[in-house]
Amino acid sequence: MSTLTNKRILLGVTGGIAAYKSAEVLRRLQDQGADVRVVMTRAATEFITPLTLQALSGHPVHLDLLDTETESVMGHIELARWADLILIAPASANFMARLAQGHGDDLLTTICLAALGPIAVAPAMNQGMWANAATQENVTALEQQGIKLFGPDQGLQACGETGLGRLLDIEGIVDLTAGLFATGLLTGKKVLITAGPTQEAIDPVRYISNHSSGKQGYSLAAAAIDAGAEVVLISGPTSLEPPDRVKIRRVISADDMQRAVMSEIAECDIFIGVAAVADFKPVQSVDQKIKKGEAPSNQVMRIDLIENPDIIAGVAQLDSRPFTVGFAAETENVVTYARRKLEKKNLDMVIANDVSDQSIGFNSDENRITVIWRGDPDNEIQLPVASKRNIAARIIELIAEKLPA
Ligand code: CTP
Repeated sequence: MSTLTNKRILLGVTGGIAAYKSAEVLRRLQDQGADVRVVMTRAATEFITPLTLQALSGHPVHLDLLDTETESVMGHIELARWADLILIAPASANFMARLAQGHGDDLLTTICLAALGPIAVAPAMNQGMWANAATQENVTALEQQGIKLFGPDQGLQACGETGLGRLLDIEGIVDLTAGLFATGLLTGKKVLITAGPTQEAIDPVRYISNHSSGKQGYSLAAAAIDAGAEVVLISGPTSLEPPDRVKIRRVISADDMQRAVMSEIAECDIFIGVAAVADFKPVQSVDQKIKKGEAPSNQVMRIDLIENPDIIAGVAQLDSRPFTVGFAAETENVVTYARRKLEKKNLDMVIANDVSDQSIGFNSDENRITVIWRGDPDNEIQLPVASKRNIAARIIELIAEKLPA
């Protein structure tokens, strides 16, 4: 299974003769399981038609910053947030210059400016243009901005000259793209993740639960797989497909979840508790459906609740415990409460998020978090709003960084 499975790649196509190769880049990325959307510069449309890339990608091609039709399908900020990676192939000398200088004068440069995730460019131009001092300065500037360069390659060029400047071969572009996701940061590590809500039965047809979608936990499982870890995902009821190569164990209640966690925890290097475990369960769940008339009073139905086990606190108490990471979903005093949880539950790291903000809360695809860990005096970092997938990749990087050697 490829590390590109389900990855969202925004393919930027700029104006140059190699633009025709973008169709093949798109196809090969799709072969590896990626979901690809295309943004073309105006100059690119002189070399390959938007219709070709639209037919191949199965989605409208985005061309203009101020196109009300495509903006209403997915606006430029949304596109920037949607992408796990922006890959510009081919990238012309002119486009690289504009990118290096932070221009935002067309759709593709604007998306790149707004992007929070990684950007890679595959240059393609005449060898003289590539060797030009101005281009080389731009290359250095792009690298300093953290933008990855794929190529260029050496060889015969469309203009008949030979030299450095050809678009890297398509296989090479796809391999390097996959390599960006396969970080190897957690190679050899076993990671156990809880995700989703739990359901606490009242009777065979009713339960107490919460709005957790499981998206953040599933994204973390995928990011840990990309980082080379062996991943076990213990999930409460969700409608999500588990990421490939993850061992999934589905559970219903907090008690089930705790049993599953404890049976998997041995040999585990990292535990990440993302599940929104129901804090309370009914003292007793009855075997038959409760009928309306059976309530002790005809109007008041009373259910006595008892606290559920604190799964993560139990893990953190184990003698040989894994690096233990918790989530703190709060609606006020987010960082203060999260710090308290770090102490009280004896965690190594806590990820705080503000669930009062609907745009980044339980059911949304985006999140904004603060990560707090033990040890360093300067032990807090705020990550800006990004997709739950990008956030997951950043969290995995931070865990890998703080994990004791
Ligand atoms: N957690 C857990 N078991 C529980 C409750 C929570 O493992 N019974 C874990 C969650 O997976 C999360 C962390 O503890 O990593 C914090 O969860 P949260 O619901 O925010 O904290 P609570 O302990 O329930 O505190 P409160 O609801 O009072 O804020």
